[in-house]
Amino acid sequence: MSSDSIKSILQEHRTFEASAAFKQRAHIGSQDQLQAMHAHAEQDPIGFWEEQARELSWGSKWDTPMQWNYPTVEWFVGGTLNASVNCLDVHVATEKRNKAALVWESEEGDVRTWTYQQLLADVNRFANVLLDQGIKKGDVVGIYMGMIPEAVMAMLACARIGATHNVVFGAFSAEALRERMDNSGAVCLITQDGARRRGSVQRLKAVADEALAHLPNIHTVLVAKNVGNDIVMSRGRDHWLHELMAAAPMKHDVQLFDSEHPLFILYTSGSTGKPKGILHTTGGYMTQVKYTSKYVFDLRDDDLYFCTADIGWITGHSYIVYGLLANGASVLMYEGAPNYPEKDRFWDIIERHQATVFYTAPTAIRAFMSWGEAWPRKHDLSSLRLLGTVGEPINPEAWMWYYDVIGRNKCPIVDTWWQTETGSIMIAPMPGVTTMKPGTATQPLPGIMADVVNKDGSPCKPNEGGYLVVKHPWPSMLRTVFGDEKRYRDTYWSHFEPCDKHDGYYFTGDGARKDSDGCFWIMGRVDDVVNVSGHRLGTAEIESALVSHAEVSEAAVVARPDEIKGNALVAFVIVNANVPTARKAELPALLREHVAAEIGPIAKPDEIRITDALPKTRSGKIMRRLLREIAGGGEVTGDTTTLEDHNVLENLR
Ligand code: PRX
Repeated sequence: MSSDSIKSILQEHRTFEASAAFKQRAHIGSQDQLQAMHAHAEQDPIGFWEEQARELSWGSKWDTPMQWNYPTVEWFVGGTLNASVNCLDVHVATEKRNKAALVWESEEGDVRTWTYQQLLADVNRFANVLLDQGIKKGDVVGIYMGMIPEAVMAMLACARIGATHNVVFGAFSAEALRERMDNSGAVCLITQDGARRRGSVQRLKAVADEALAHLPNIHTVLVAKNVGNDIVMSRGRDHWLHELMAAAPMKHDVQLFDSEHPLFILYTSGSTGKPKGILHTTGGYMTQVKYTSKYVFDLRDDDLYFCTADIGWITGHSYIVYGLLANGASVLMYEGAPNYPEKDRFWDIIERHQATVFYTAPTAIRAFMSWGEAWPRKHDLSSLRLLGTVGEPINPEAWMWYYDVIGRNKCPIVDTWWQTETGSIMIAPMPGVTTMKPGTATQPLPGIMADVVNKDGSPCKPNEGGYLVVKHPWPSMLRTVFGDEKRYRDTYWSHFEPCDKHDGYYFTGDGARKDSDGCFWIMGRVDDVVNVSGHRLGTAEIESALVSHAEVSEAAVVARPDEIKGNALVAFVIVNANVPTARKAELPALLREHVAAEIGPIAKPDEIRITDALPKTRSGKIMRRLLREIAGGGEVTGDTTTLEDHNVLENLR
């Protein structure tokens, strides 16, 4: 981390408000109400979170709301609860019993629905299967599945018996799966025969078998039947889930666990390679995912909420499963690709099911833009009332497109900033009241004390770029990096240690600036900051300028060492599909001028490479460290296990 501050060069002045009709029905519909919530949280942060925690069902109540011993935190100490009870049983006891909990659509178009009552019965059966297989409280259970209902049931069944789940994204390689199972000490793996993706079958069980050959401690493998493709079963170890579930009782005597009981481990790939097992526990996590789901998505009882994230990511954990079900919402889950059979699959799904809330990632929005607005325009999307984004900064062009073409200028957009580590949304608009500006996640939610600071921890001035930190522990904070306490401390708590000026801050790894209205503009990972002629620039801003050009759909900017300037800026750019080849030759020069005009000559890339694809993680994040190696002319030596498509690297070379 350099001592210099980060220079911000992006300017955006458009603002938007929710309609009067939206405000009127919103949970938080007035500034007074929001300010009162902020004031309560500032005066008494712990009391504020206790109030949110009381929205859950507890066995015994906590005796200590928070125990903070830098950098270790415990929330609601002494309290007991069960996460799956809070997602299911509490609703089955009410008039929500026969409400849809899960509406699932396969890539082939089959639709199946589980009411809360039905989902509880299946989760109970699943929990009984796990117990019967000798899985017990505290065991780690791997889940290597696609987007099928059994994946949700698997998570809830683990939670029900106190086993800690470790979901590995279904398109990861055998090696990535092996490493994550091995590192977490998993004893059971839940997988499926195959998953459908863009009309073909991903053979999950076959990939799992490769990993399992090196995982002698996994004594039980449960296989959900989804596609019906041929698989090999290892006798004694492997079982068809549907056979065991059919024989299992649907009653289950549920146990309650300590608030700090580990709920799940989820691996996130750091920019330096070896993935970190982020550990989340029960009471604090459930408190904050429930609170944020309710207010940020402004949930109403008649909503049908559609999130396109995979359950292999934190977004799927918090905002498909735990946060939404804890609120008794109806969740729409789709198995397959957005462009199968055609590029309007999401819009078709929204129209047919009358989805009301839609949550996706900027990278997906840019793909929709490049496919052309004729696809969404074919559909009646008037059921939508709220849109959301997550995962990376949304460039204002993409925001405007989303607002206009998908939201038809009537849906507020919640740009939600958070991380695997934070567990829940931290910075986001309250959709009924916060003034939206394209490109900013706006302000921290009540209860979250985030700030932008200099290297010494002092607050940055308005519009001065710096480091995004959180100043006070929050309930759904990661508890550690599984099995690596030192890495936990080094990564998150060593940059702003307690000193005479402050009590120590959590470092997010992101660069940001706060504007004069107190809105947070995320400038990307500080690892991705580039130093140009002594100015430190966030790559996100230069990329945003590039994609604001009508012919560009995606861009990534990195620095390569340059003998004269120290650093030269290299931009990798994907142009829209309809740009003719001859035009592609002209574009680099034009784009350099475009960036100069948009944000200033200082940010003008030295080199622009037009390419067909960018190296991305499976969750759609551009792997800039690989591009840095390519731009520098060297071999790619870093870890590439999380790369979505290895051919991309070949082509870039
Ligand atoms: O850099 C920020 C970016 O994604 C990082 C967290 O990534 P991950 O743990 O994979 O979680 C993604 C889903 C929560 C952050 O440190 N990021 C996430 N949301 C935003 C964002 N950057 C800007 N704006 C956002 N809304």
